This record gives sequence, structure tokens and C-alpha cells, in this order.
Amino acid sequence: MKLIGKGKSKDIYRADNGDIVFEFTDRVTAFDGVKKAEYAHKGEVCCELATYWFKILEKESIHTHFKKKISTNRIRVANLNILPVEVIWRNYVAGSLWRRFERGEIKLPEGTDAREGAPIPNGMLEFTTKFETVDRPVNTEEIINSKWMTEDELINIGEMTRKINDIMFKRLLRKDIILADFKVEFGKTPKGKILLADEVGTPDGCRFWDKQAYVRGEFLSLDKDVFRKNKGDLSAAYLEIFDRITKD
Ligand code: TMP
Ligand code: ASP
Repeated sequence: MKLIGKGKSKDIYRADNGDIVFEFTDRVTAFDGVKKAEYAHKGEVCCELATYWFKILEKESIHTHFKKKISTNRIRVANLNILPVEVIWRNYVAGSLWRRFERGEIKLPEGTDAREGAPIPNGMLEFTTKFETVDRPVNTEEIINSKWMTEDELINIGEMTRKINDIMFKRLLRKDIILADFKVEFGKTPKGKILLADEVGTPDGCRFWDKQAYVRGEFLSLDKDVFRKNKGDLSAAYLEIFDRITKD
């Protein structure tokens, strides 16, 4: 195995057969790498949760690059051509959506209350750049004009993301967890088939809120917002979300 890259939280290797191996480390970064730390168990929790969701999504006919979990913090995946956009699905107003609204840069989708934490009635799809130093929101016109994706690929990815949301949202709600939003990435096989790539359903790439706290009017984050907003011990939050998601 040869180390071929280091992401913000994962180390990436190429296996002898051409597959890719992700090693989930304990590193955590936020604000485009400005804030950094390490937390025990983080890598294992994200590795196990990504595996958990990849398996569920595959059963529900979402095709992914996942092949096998090969150790406590490593998975083997197919080598894809990663598309240069990150795809964000939002069920609730949070994070950068709220910040852009407060700055007066955007309107919220129709029927959405102008407050942090408000539900977005039909959900909302957004795209950001992936390979620029700072992730930047992009619209579908720029994606097509830049030839990052075709119109058909965009429609396909939008439908897959909506379906991924439906599957995760329903399962999490049964565990009293609100899936406020999440980010996914996609890649293409040499034959042009689009597969879900990177990781999915981890507290690094999703906002998970405790539902009972939300009903009381509080935000109890069980995800990377604990680190972004200095809301306590990240290891404890990650272990809690891990237990709640994986224990039936
Ligand atoms: P945002 O509110 O900061 O735009 O993030 C929306 C969701 O996407 C949130 O669950 C965090 C996730 N996300 C990532 O996983 N990686 C990223 O680089 C960004 C910008 C967001
Ligand atoms: N800015 C994003 C975040 O806060 C991505 C990152 O830098 O990790 O999650």
C-alpha cells in the first residue's frame, strides 16, 4: 500500500490491486483547516459509521464505492474519478446557510421561517467547489459551464442525494436524532457510472441534533459543531452518536 494523499481527516492509500484505502485518523479540522485538533476514537467512530451507512444505502439501491472494512479505522473502496463538487442537502437552517442569510446574501427557500434551526419544508440541495482552497457555493449553471458535470449527471446526483436523505432521515428520527444537513461526494467509474464516494453519515459530514432537546428549543449537537463552536468534548459527542445510531 502506498500513501497517495492526506485529507483533512483521512489518509489515502492506493492498494496493490488499484483500489483505494481510506484511513480515518483522529484529526479534526474546521473553517477550511484554520482550526485543528486530534480526538481519541474519532477515526474509529467515523470509519464504523461510514461502513454502517454504506451497507444500508447499498441495500436500498444506492450504488457506492464502498468495498470492505479492513480494520478498525480503514475501509477499501473503488478508485473513482471524483467529481469536483461537494453536494449538500439541508433539512433545517444551520451553519453556512444561516450565516449567508444573516449577511443578506441569500433568500431562504419558500415557506422557511427566518430563524436558525427552522425546518426547510421540502429540503434544499446546494453545491460547493471541492478542489479550491476555500469551499465556495456554486450554482448549477457554473457547474455545467465549467464542464464539471453534465446536466444529466446533475439531475442524477440530485436524485441520489434526495434518496440518501430520505433513507438516513427516517432511520435517524426513529432514534430521536434530527438530520439537519449533510454533505456527500460522488465519483465516476471508468465506464461513466456515478457512485456515492468519500464517506457518508459520519458526524464529520452531517449535523445531528438530539430531537428531545430540539423540541425544548435547544440545539444539542452530536457532530463536528461541538468542535467548530467549542461546545464540549468531541470524543464524548462522537461516541454518543455512534452508540445511538448503531444500537437497535
Ligand atoms: P455548512 O453549513 O458549513 O455549509 O455545512 C453543511 C453540511 O455539510 C454540514 O453537515 C457539514 C458538511 N460539510 C462538510 O462535511 N464538509 C465541508 O467542507 C463543508 C463546507 C460542509
Ligand atoms: N469549513 C468546513 C467545516 O467547518 C470544512 C472544514 O474545513 O473542515 O466543516
